[in-house]
Amino acid sequence: MMQSRAASSLLAQLSRAIGHESAQNELRWMRQTLDTPPAGICPTARSVEEMVSRRIRGEPLQYILVLIPRPETEDWALRLADLARDTLRSLTTNRPLSILDLCTGTGCIPLLLLRTLPAGSAHATGIDISEDAVSLAQENADLCGISVPADNIPHPNKRSRQSEENTFKSVLADLMHPDFVRKARLAPPYDVITSNPPYIPQVEYDRLPASVKGYEDVRALVGDPAGVALPTLPAADRDKGLTFYHRIAELVRDHDLLAAEGTLALEVGDGQAQDVAAILEGKAAMRRIDVWRDPWEKERVVVAHR
Ligand SMILES: C[S@@+](CC[C@H](N)C(=O)[O-])C[C@H]1O[C@@H](n2cnc3c(N)ncnc32)[C@H](O)[C@@H]1O
Repeated sequence: MMQSRAASSLLAQLSRAIGHESAQNELRWMRQTLDTPPAGICPTARSVEEMVSRRIRGEPLQYILVLIPRPETEDWALRLADLARDTLRSLTTNRPLSILDLCTGTGCIPLLLLRTLPAGSAHATGIDISEDAVSLAQENADLCGISVPADNIPHPNKRSRQSEENTFKSVLADLMHPDFVRKARLAPPYDVITSNPPYIPQVEYDRLPASVKGYEDVRALVGDPAGVALPTLPAADRDKGLTFYHRIAELVRDHDLLAAEGTLALEVGDGQAQDVAAILEGKAAMRRIDVWRDPWEKERVVVAHR
C-alpha cells in the first residue's frame, strides 16, 4: 500500500530525531496502541501526530504509549481487580464499590481497575499533590471513556447514564496536610484503597540516572519528602523511604477510611514489604496481611484487610 504524504512526513520527522529504523518501529507501535489499546491500558495521546511531536521533544516512548503503569504496577492492579470482583459478589446490597487511590499520578491504578470492573460497579477518586497530575489523571479518564461523577458535572444531560457507568474524579490535595481528609473532601469508608506512593530513599534518589531525574518530578519519587517531618515517624524508620506508609496507616486508623470488608493495597520498593506490613499491623491494626510478588519475584505490594 502506498504511504500517504502525511504518514511519510511523520516518518521523516521522527527519523531525524531517532533514526529511520527506530522511527519505523515506534510509529507502528503508536498506531497499534491507538487502534487496539491492550486491556486496561490507554494511550496518553489522541493522535499519532501528537505522539510524534512529543517523542521528537524527547519524551520517552513508554510515557506516550501507555499511562505508565510500570509492568509491576499493572500486574498487581489486575490481580487486585480480581479481588475487587470477589468483594462485589460478596456485597449484600447491590451498590457500586468505592475506590480511593492516594498519590494517583496519571490515575493509572484506579483507571485500570475501572476499565476491568463491570460497568456501573465502581466509582474511584484519585488524589495527588501535583496540579499537573490531577489534570492528567482526569484527561486520561476521559481518554479511557470514563466519566466524572454526576455531582461534579453541572450539566444535567450527563446525569442520565451515571448509574450504568464507572466514574473517576481526581482531586488536588496534600496527603501530609493535617486536615487532609476534609480538604480532599473524602467520603469514607472505601472498599478499596490503593497507593503507589513515592518510596525511594533520598540516598538512592541521588544515585538515579539523570534521564529519570529529568523526567520525573522529585515529589513523585522520594519517600521522605524534604520539609515534611512526620512527628510520628519512628527514628528507626527515618530515611528509609517509609514516610508515606506511616501517613497512610495513620489516616486509615484515625478516619476509618477502609470499609469493614475492604482491601488496602500499597506498592512498595525493594526490601520495604516487611517494614510496611509491620507499619500496617502496628499502626492501623490491619489483619490478614499478604505480600504479593511481581512477575520478577520481587516483593512488590502489601495487601491488607481489617
Ligand atoms: C510514584 S508516583 C505514583 C503515580 C501512580 N500512582 C503510578 O503508580 O504510576 C507518586 C505520586 O505521588 C504524588 N505525591 C507526592 N507527594 C504527595 C502528597 N504529599 N500528597 C499527594 N500526592 C503526592 C506525586 O505527585 C506522584 O504523582
